[in-house]
Amino acid sequence: MEERKSFILDSEKRAVDERLSEKKMSEEMERDVLRVVNKKFSLDSLDRWDTSTALVQSVVSYITHNVKGAAVHVFCHESEYHEYREIDREGITSISDDSLFIGCLSMTGGVVSLSQFFSDYSLDDPLIEQCLQSIYGGKYIVPVVHSFELLAFILICSENPDEDLTLTDSQKEELLSVSDRLQINLYAASVAEKQQRELLRLSSFIQALQSRKTLSEIYQNLLKDLSEQLLFDRGVCYAFEEETMLLVPFDQRGIEEKVPSIHIGRGISGQVAEWNKIVSVPDRAKHPSYAAMGDEDFFKGSFISVPFGSPKELYGVVTFSRSAASPFGIEHRYMLEIASNFIASEITNRKLYEKLDESHFNIVKSLTRALEAKDAYTEGHSARVTKYSLGIARLLNYSEERLYNLRYGAMLHDIGKIGITDAIINKTSRLSDEEFSTIKGHTEIGYHILSNNPFFDTIRDFVLYHHETLIGTGYYKKKKGEYPEEAMIISAADIFDALTSDRPYRKALEVSAALSDMKRLSGIHFTQEIYDALCSYALSSDFSTEIQTKAE
Ligand SMILES: [Fe+2]
Ligand SMILES: [Fe+2]
Repeated sequence: MEERKSFILDSEKRAVDERLSEKKMSEEMERDVLRVVNKKFSLDSLDRWDTSTALVQSVVSYITHNVKGAAVHVFCHESEYHEYREIDREGITSISDDSLFIGCLSMTGGVVSLSQFFSDYSLDDPLIEQCLQSIYGGKYIVPVVHSFELLAFILICSENPDEDLTLTDSQKEELLSVSDRLQINLYAASVAEKQQRELLRLSSFIQALQSRKTLSEIYQNLLKDLSEQLLFDRGVCYAFEEETMLLVPFDQRGIEEKVPSIHIGRGISGQVAEWNKIVSVPDRAKHPSYAAMGDEDFFKGSFISVPFGSPKELYGVVTFSRSAASPFGIEHRYMLEIASNFIASEITNRKLYEKLDESHFNIVKSLTRALEAKDAYTEGHSARVTKYSLGIARLLNYSEERLYNLRYGAMLHDIGKIGITDAIINKTSRLSDEEFSTIKGHTEIGYHILSNNPFFDTIRDFVLYHHETLIGTGYYKKKKGEYPEEAMIISAADIFDALTSDRPYRKALEVSAALSDMKRLSGIHFTQEIYDALCSYALSSDFSTEIQTKAE
């Protein structure tokens, strides 16, 4: 009996415990739900945003939760497109930011009835009126203004188009609180997005960097390319020379006097090179160390200095300054840090490419040396013709790309002689007509040798036509304009080298004698311009340095 009583008591106790536990659970669940609801719909939720879109969505959720029967649309200012539109419903409607409607709205405060707003300002804009009232079913409008600038406006519409919507005073007050909170957060979001857009602008800098054809073009245009990203009064781009430990200025802007080279560790740029880290100072005059520093005194006010290089090698430093009234900030530092990484990687790639290209060119050079080794009188001829051709072309302001092709063309101009018998090549006495005709074939043989490789597409014609003349008396009877000017330059350099080299039947002519001898060919064999450039080059210090290496 006692046992049965105890069992009943136990089971009742269990049932009570279970009920209590269920009640406890449901209370906990209720609290959880409330916590979630409050979290979702508290005004504080408007402070937790990652993007403007998330912010706007929070506003819409908040208002629709608090105003029964309302549909909500938020129109934000898109400064890039000069219009207001719903960022979460891209492209449905947009209102130009120079419309009278927007002008009046930015002067309005509070929660206003939409029909009242149109009549108060006597706005005669049926398109906007019809869109907001008839299509959206708009009843109230809440402008979000920051410093007289309309950041956004909230359109409160009736969820059911057939029903009216009247806001209570407390709902209006609540909407004003939303507007205030939205104002702060939208402004912060717009600042963050502006910075993101600025980073996006860096892509144009990267494109400009990649469009530069050579390494020196990259250095020469670095300040110009960076000026699209950064406002500065003065700027210097230095390249680092490891042998001398000097930073050598490659380009300068806003500084009249010629900027001198600076030793690593000296001045702002030298220190930045030594430390290999960005330095940014808001006002040099107020800085305890830089104010007294004598070097690079042309950098006044605020300055920022950035090194660029690979992990193993420093390539250079760029330093900018501008008025201390608008100092460089952290955003410029980030931007330049990203830019310098791109500069360094582009330079590393170009250096690697140039190294590969140099080794390619050296193979070509070895090939011509092997050919010339058969004849002591022509040894080094192709290398010299290359130097002279480039000397002439530089004075004619050839682009880097044309110089590049000319270098290969000149080096290979006689490669076709590989297919001519040694007996004819090395013959020191006068050639017979038949032998002369055979040797003339070296231009065509050279052309065919180079036909197998698309790399030589441009230069094949330089090789084929390097024995043409202006007046059409060359191997193929081509006249000026019918063959590349590069072939004409190679021809002038070829004749000049032949005259200034020893031959079995005569000694080498002096430079001046060779030039005066060639004068008679000007306007017949090659243009006057090419002859003048050859004379300027042959009489320059560049040439005298190069002629000393003639025997190499
Ligand atoms: Fe030739
Ligand atoms: Fe030649």
